[in-house]
Amino acid sequence: MTRTRFLGTGHYVPEKVVTNDDLAKRMTTSDEWIQQRTGIRTRRYVDFEQDPMGASELGARAGRAALADAKVSKDEIDLIIVATLSPDRPFPGDGVLVQAKLDIPVGVPALDIRNQCSGFLYGLSVADAYIRSGTYKRILLIGAEVHSSGLDFSDRGRDVAVIFGDGAAAVVLGPSEDDSQGVLGITLHADGRFADELSCSYPSSAVSPRVCAEGLTNGAQYASMNGKTVFKHAVSRMPEALLTVLGKLNLAPKDIDLLIPHQANLRISEMVQRRLELRDEQVFSNIQEYGNTTAASIPLALDQAVKQGRIKRGDLVCLAAFGAGFTWAAAAIRW
Ligand code: ACO
Repeated sequence: MTRTRFLGTGHYVPEKVVTNDDLAKRMTTSDEWIQQRTGIRTRRYVDFEQDPMGASELGARAGRAALADAKVSKDEIDLIIVATLSPDRPFPGDGVLVQAKLDIPVGVPALDIRNQCSGFLYGLSVADAYIRSGTYKRILLIGAEVHSSGLDFSDRGRDVAVIFGDGAAAVVLGPSEDDSQGVLGITLHADGRFADELSCSYPSSAVSPRVCAEGLTNGAQYASMNGKTVFKHAVSRMPEALLTVLGKLNLAPKDIDLLIPHQANLRISEMVQRRLELRDEQVFSNIQEYGNTTAASIPLALDQAVKQGRIKRGDLVCLAAFGAGFTWAAAAIRW
């Protein structure tokens, strides 16, 4: 039985480090408030004065790193998948922009995923289905975000602005030679009744004209979040999805060697850990350094965990995501 194996991982983050004190110069907040509520100490922002770039460029750089790590040539890639909520343009999607930047051969398909914080796992499930069916053999899956150009740095937007950071990460996926290694299971979920709880509603195709000066006066172009509702659902949906995926494999949380939860908020990850009764060394966190990078957060943490030696061949690695939609997902991988 063919399984989907991770052939390589890579990431790219902008050099500019933004501290909580830097944010406190632009809005009424403090290092203490941000660390206490979210665990975040720093995040990276694209330097739009010195070196402007969009999510496709961050994604392409991460993709290049993952290809080098996998020792796979760009000419071998037969499908590109890019997950982002911050594409360079309304259309075309970042998938084709990454294809052109990486000079991936003409004709190779490029698929765009719009599932926000769950985007990487939704993308992984699509890649996994294609690989197991034998349709594609080398898939480049990227999560990339530039949040910093779309945050409201006034006091109105401070609950959201302090959480998000820019970054990208990528994996190269291919079929495993034996079924003891690779993706063991993935579960995906959504509940559209909560679409308004974490959302950016403007520009909108439901408004005509789609963009006008008045539309930009009430802040609808920025993300709005009901933080308490997001928190409540995230801490129950991620454990639930993990138990679903593990249960189908006759595995339990104690079997997990490393859980990489979406880096939404350190308090959310700690609550997920408690609910699953996991030990500290079973859970990976890097939100302290990078903030919440949405679709990039899981592969960015995965790449760091691999490079730090926290993941070894044969380990049971679990991934869990929760985000806008609401959407949520979990995956179990035998590394
Ligand atoms: N600095 C200082 N004060 C702030 C800030 C800030 N950055 N943001 C909000 N406040 C104020 C509020 O205005 C409010 O003031 P008030 O009492 O005078 O009205 C006070 O702090 C408390 O606000 P709450 O919204 O009640 O704060 P809460 O304790 O719920 O914390 C937070 C807010 C951190 C967003 C929390 O709800 C949370 O962790 N939610 C989960 C959401 C999340 O992590 N999302 C991640 C992105 S989505 C995802 O990836 C799934």
